[in-house]
Amino acid sequence: MLINPRICILIAVCFLLVLSCKTDEGRLTFAVGGASSEVEYWEKVIEEFTDSTGIQVILTRQPTDTDQRRQGLVIPLRARQSDPDIFLMDVVWVNQFATAAWLEPLDPAVKNGEIALECFFESIIDQVDKYNDTLYALPVYNDCGLLYYRKDLLHRYGRRVPETWYELVRTAVSIQEKQRMHNPRFFGFVWQGAQYEGLICNFVEYAVSNNGGIIDSTGKFNIVMPQNIKVARLMSELIHRYNISPPNTYTEMKEEEVRIAFENGDALFERNWPYAWGLHNNEASPVKGMVGVTVLPRGNNGRHASTLGGWHIGISRFSDAKTKALKLLQHIVSYETQKNLALNLGWNPGRSDLYEDTEVMQRIPHLQVLKKSFENAVARPATPFYTQISEIIQKYLNAILSGESSASDGLAKAQREIEETLKRYHD
Ligand code: GLC
Repeated sequence: MLINPRICILIAVCFLLVLSCKTDEGRLTFAVGGASSEVEYWEKVIEEFTDSTGIQVILTRQPTDTDQRRQGLVIPLRARQSDPDIFLMDVVWVNQFATAAWLEPLDPAVKNGEIALECFFESIIDQVDKYNDTLYALPVYNDCGLLYYRKDLLHRYGRRVPETWYELVRTAVSIQEKQRMHNPRFFGFVWQGAQYEGLICNFVEYAVSNNGGIIDSTGKFNIVMPQNIKVARLMSELIHRYNISPPNTYTEMKEEEVRIAFENGDALFERNWPYAWGLHNNEASPVKGMVGVTVLPRGNNGRHASTLGGWHIGISRFSDAKTKALKLLQHIVSYETQKNLALNLGWNPGRSDLYEDTEVMQRIPHLQVLKKSFENAVARPATPFYTQISEIIQKYLNAILSGESSASDGLAKAQREIEETLKRYHD
């Protein structure tokens, strides 16, 4: 029987299509979140990548809140799904994801010269990106907590940039009172107090700058140190006694809420990450040119302390497009892309060689301050069960901030629950 040549061609085309789908890797999906301006910028980065490589990328938009972003990744990874192929991870998850064997090792790419490790900060690579001597991720940007202040208002009322937390309180109380006469929404100090990971970052800064912390000198979780009780009380008093932080601090205040309040001209001081600098100085920002940035205050007998944050990029072990994913990773950590991210978003580059770049130094004049801040920043513990411990501390600290529990009671309960949880892991 003769087969119609048209049908033959059709069959051949279908066969080739199936074959090409089999040999070609799947489509590339990249999960990333952050402020909406940041996610929009990522779209541009992806577009450039597609233009230069022909590789199509689907951007999976994630929220701003780090805990929600984590959840959005843990679900597909636990289910061993091939998407997303590549994603950004908060500094505190890299160890957890590596322990769970969800990340593709990057050492082969270092060995064959596709990744040059010497362009990154060795201490960060060792602390964050390596697990059991294997490299699983690379830094895209480094974060550290900073104090933003209104230069114009400090100048108008003859005050200086506060050196200690108590000085910050005094200055904020006094300027708030005067500013309230024409702006009833004005607050002295805005910071992240909602029940999420950002609250831990803030707490660590108050605690360590007062000689406390969540880990004691023996390396154990010890949340009930007297210095911690003192600072938890201070955090609550900022809202309820000095009234310099808004009542929604413990219900709503995360990075973006805090940034917007300050940017609208409704606050004197703000605790936030480096990303806020670029947005505060945007053409459309009401506080453009009026903002100063410096290290966070310290306790009367303590040192300046800032929590080490930041976002690192890794490839899923379940990806069906690992070669393409590696190309995207190389593009994102390249000098040019990192430079553009710094110039456009004000981020602290993950690469160390950019801290010598004149254009970057001009655009981010406080870059050297930032570099010192994150080199001395306090890392949160790199343990596989960090998220569980953090959730316990978040819950009790938030109850202290809301006034539901006293500082000593709340932290004692947190300590008990931490110990029970650790016991479960170690038994
Ligand atoms: C920033 C930091 C991150 C931290 C988070 C808390 O995104 O880079 O490390 O966990 O804020 O909200």
